Amino acid sequence: MASIGEAILGRAQALARHSDSPAHYTRTLFTPAHQAAARQLGDWMRAAGMAVRVDAVGNVIGRYEARAPGAKTLLMGSHFDSVRNGGKYDGVLGILLPMACVAELAARGEKLDVAIEVAAFSDEEGARFQTSFFSSRALIGRFDPQLLERRDADGTTLADAMRGAGLDPARATEARIDPSSLAAYVEVHIEQGPVLLGEGVPLGIVASIAGGTRHIVRVQGEAGHAGTVPMALRHDALAAAAEMVLAVEKRCGAGGSLVGTVGILKVRDGTGNVIPGDVEFTIDIRAGEDTVRRAAEQDVFAAFEAIARKRGVSVERTRTHEVSAVPCAPWLQDALAASVERAGVRAHRLPSGAGHDAMILAQVSDVGMLFVRCGAGGVSHNPAETITAEDVDAAAAALLDFLRRFEPR
Ligand code: HGY
Ligand code: MN
Ligand code: MN
Repeated sequence: MASIGEAILGRAQALARHSDSPAHYTRTLFTPAHQAAARQLGDWMRAAGMAVRVDAVGNVIGRYEARAPGAKTLLMGSHFDSVRNGGKYDGVLGILLPMACVAELAARGEKLDVAIEVAAFSDEEGARFQTSFFSSRALIGRFDPQLLERRDADGTTLADAMRGAGLDPARATEARIDPSSLAAYVEVHIEQGPVLLGEGVPLGIVASIAGGTRHIVRVQGEAGHAGTVPMALRHDALAAAAEMVLAVEKRCGAGGSLVGTVGILKVRDGTGNVIPGDVEFTIDIRAGEDTVRRAAEQDVFAAFEAIARKRGVSVERTRTHEVSAVPCAPWLQDALAASVERAGVRAHRLPSGAGHDAMILAQVSDVGMLFVRCGAGGVSHNPAETITAEDVDAAAAALLDFLRRFEPR
């Protein structure tokens, strides 16, 4: 009989076949692959003994009733969308593991003092429409209707993509739940870093989650003939953007938890023999402390203005995402740490540099997170992302212990 860990790795492998691309694992919001994955998760939730609903923004939510009606709900879950050419455990583990724990309880007819819900969030990465945390924000009632007009690379609006998935964009706000029904939110996630690997432990308890912002920056200069415009007379938007990219790297290399990344850079109408006139790129800046992040942002934007003036180009930026740093509730950290210890693992607490839906749920509920060790040096957002069945077994033992002992506050 396969262990829980082996079964979960097998399901993650099966789920990863629902990909937008035949060449690699990419699953973005409301694509056919995303819809197929949603159906598969719903089937697995039902088989685990849960009632399943799909909400107004495509979240797939399984519910396992408490021993008595009127009980609060312990919400768990994570996301089932991915980055492009990503790893198959990012998000997915946080759905499959709680689901497997509920199946264990249901198989024994065990009921708890709380109901359990496992949410498969439809869009956390925001890779298709730049809509990070779109679906968990809608769940807590922070849906931004302006997002409906966001377009993907093919020009499809989010609203049309919702319709294509059988959802009515006008009813997106109906995804809101009543936060007073929540006892807590607990998310299991792969660490996506090397700390647990270095500590030699399979599990970690998250103490806090770094805050971050994302912007789209547009640099406009003057397109021109690559052969006839003297270098000194150019207003090259790409050369300016390149200097700005290095300014992000330099300022965010100041140390500590501050990080800065340019993940996408596009030259509009880029042609080999044309001086670029119009360039767009993304910036992602994060830190464990919001004051550190905000200071870095101000410096980076000032550097952009100085580079633009020097090169005779214009620069404008649009913020697409902001979330403050979030502490995990001490009582949930302590409960998770005690369960990890009872599972035979030294309890190690650590910050999360990666963002998670828990940051959004933290706006309406206490949150806790349990990390599972990543192999391959801790790499993630990369197809080399890997975890072991043994570590997932340890996580299942700890989470089952946590669930059986969970007492709402
Ligand atoms: O970017 C992040 O931190 C997460 O993977 N969405
Ligand atoms: Mn991710
Ligand atoms: Mn994730």
